[in-house]
Amino acid sequence: MIADIIAVNRERWDAMASANVLFSRPFFNFTREEAAAYVRCDTVLGEVDGKAVLCLASGGGQDSAAFGLLGANVTVFDLSDVQLSRDQEAARHHGYPVQTVQGDMRDLSIFDANTFDIVWQPYSINYSPTVEPVIAEVSRVLKPSGIYHLAFANPFVLAMDNDWDGNGYPLRDLYRDGEDITRFFPAWEFTQDDGTVITVAHPHEFRHTLSTLFNTLARQGFLFLQMSEWMRPDADPEQGSWAHFTQCCPPYLQTFWRLGAA
Ligand SMILES: C[S@@+](CC[C@H](N)C(=O)[O-])C[C@H]1O[C@@H](n2cnc3c(N)ncnc32)[C@H](O)[C@@H]1O
Repeated sequence: MIADIIAVNRERWDAMASANVLFSRPFFNFTREEAAAYVRCDTVLGEVDGKAVLCLASGGGQDSAAFGLLGANVTVFDLSDVQLSRDQEAARHHGYPVQTVQGDMRDLSIFDANTFDIVWQPYSINYSPTVEPVIAEVSRVLKPSGIYHLAFANPFVLAMDNDWDGNGYPLRDLYRDGEDITRFFPAWEFTQDDGTVITVAHPHEFRHTLSTLFNTLARQGFLFLQMSEWMRPDADPEQGSWAHFTQCCPPYLQTFWRLGAA
């Protein structure tokens, strides 16, 4: 059942955040310039000062820190209380207000319709078994002409890893919509500052095909604005390194959409 999957994922995200993984470390040393570059104000977003921003499934104190520093009215919605506590820490550190709300991204009923100018969703929709409820909710809570930033796994390479075999990176699975790919990555190991290693079970993660994502967005009234592929910068990456893998198989796609007028 989906509710069971979400409950398991909540425990696993709390465990990962408690292990202080990279995306659970708040940005305490962010300047305004770095913040603007992080949320890519030079692209379709423009000035965010005074805008109502929902950072969706976006806890950890990075995205909210960027928008908070730039003067936006920030709300963070996330499954993990530990992740949300990092957004509170970042807000206290930098001195801007933030609202944090715990919940499942498939149900945003706590928010009224037409509430936000921007919904910013970093890499997280792949932790939902389906995309339709999430995108429908985003379309409801966004104001007409509001902007939706949605990052997601490149579905063609989702079950792959940087296991170079001398010729390339082997494809490990069929291109199937909605598939739980967690069996390929059952656990993550995180080295702590004192050298000890904490092993955390991987949250359930799902492949969403490009057609499912784009067709669902179009059905919910979103107009495509912009897309980019994330790759680790490295001019001469070594075969088998993470940078080389990402430059052969970009793992994340970042998109911007505008909600059509109702
Ligand atoms: C990879 S982190 C992304 C956030 C991070 N700020 C970043 O910089 O990329 C994924 C986030 O999605 C959240 N998440 C996972 N499943 C969720 C769900 N069903 N509803 C809301 N949040 C969820 C996790 O708790 C986690 O904070």
